[in-house]
Amino acid sequence: MSTPAAAPDESRSFPIGRQCPYRPSTGYDAFRAEGPLSRVRLYDGREVWMVTGYAEARALLADRRVSINPRLDGFPALSAEMAELESTGYTDVLIGVDPPLHTRQRAMLIPSFSVRRMNALRPAIQDIVDQRVDAMLAAGPPAELVADFALPVPSMAVCVLLGVPYEDRAAFEGPARGLFDPDPDRAGEAMTSLTEYFGQLVRAKERSPGTGLLDDLIAEQVRKGTLSRDELVLYAMLMLIAGQDTTANVISLGTLALLEHPDQFAKLRADPDLATGAVEEIMRYVSLIEAISRVALEDIDISGHHIKAGEGVLIGAAAANFSPALVPTPDELDVTRSPRHHLGFGFGVHQCIGQNLARIELELAFRTLPQRMPNLRLAVPADEIRTSVTGPMERLTTLPVTW
Ligand code: HEM
Repeated sequence: MSTPAAAPDESRSFPIGRQCPYRPSTGYDAFRAEGPLSRVRLYDGREVWMVTGYAEARALLADRRVSINPRLDGFPALSAEMAELESTGYTDVLIGVDPPLHTRQRAMLIPSFSVRRMNALRPAIQDIVDQRVDAMLAAGPPAELVADFALPVPSMAVCVLLGVPYEDRAAFEGPARGLFDPDPDRAGEAMTSLTEYFGQLVRAKERSPGTGLLDDLIAEQVRKGTLSRDELVLYAMLMLIAGQDTTANVISLGTLALLEHPDQFAKLRADPDLATGAVEEIMRYVSLIEAISRVALEDIDISGHHIKAGEGVLIGAAAANFSPALVPTPDELDVTRSPRHHLGFGFGVHQCIGQNLARIELELAFRTLPQRMPNLRLAVPADEIRTSVTGPMERLTTLPVTW
């Protein structure tokens, strides 16, 4: 039985702009109130399903009858830039691929992301965090926390993970952000620069191996002929795109949320061991990736709604993260709880492969900042802080702080 929700009006378009940069719009509450599935209109006028119920969001993310393949008709791109990016090869590994190919691709990477391998990176990441705090303390106050801290920490961490020289950052930091440029020519140039950079790096590593995920894949896959150089370049680009800006945005938005909730910042200062659990609460509260796109491969009946094969489905991770089914008081930021089952890293077979690395970076950031900068506060009124939105992701352009 087909039971579509009420016809959408213009106020029901997606993305739903944030009223406050560090948490999703309360506009999702109205969707959740009408039931776990609603209809929304995308930037190109198409209507798709929006799943706001927590249980339904998890169920659909784990359902093999929905696809992540952006080349399929009906797949909901979230903006023109995302549609452009998704038409390039960048989605040909993992993030645009369904099982069984996805299962084989992901299995190759799992050893490089083991908890043991991630924990081995902790000292290097703590060094990075400490160096950035040292630099801010030496030069300031004030400081600009996005450029001085939030961006360099994940950028260096991804370099350590991949085995990429951080000295090369000019070759990839700008282009990685440029991929989302609304000007298709500039986005194309960024893609070309990254492809050239990683192509050269892979050839250099074949001559002189180092340590890192790219070196693992060269030794275990490329040399055995199970992975081509071009594919390896795609993996490197995906890790950079998926791991750098995301983590940087959660660091900057999470810090802003804490500075706007000084009682919570004080709790972290008083008890640094809260940071491990607080990462889960900050991930939930910030809900960086507001929606995860899928397209139905078959008809699906769920909670009284009928999704037809070929229809676009937005899994409203942000809405689900603010569901009372996850935490009893979703509108509160409470660093003493640890809602580990939030959807900030997704769920199901595509759940973020870098989540343990991200957790370490976030934990060390939210442990170290309150300890070493106990008087940290905003240097400008909160409403002067500038943001930009890329597809499903909010980003702070700058975060001026003082102490
Ligand atoms: C706080 C930071 C991060 C957030 C919020 C985040 C979020 C996500 C989400 C929501 C997904 C699922 C997408 C989907 O189902 O369509 C995902 C997948 C992925 N993430 Fe992350 N991520 C973060 C950090 C990282 C890091 C550090 C890396 C690697 C260095 C990484 C690499 C990936 C990859 C490769 C995938 C695709 C996995 C697959 O399709 O099997 N992410 N991430």
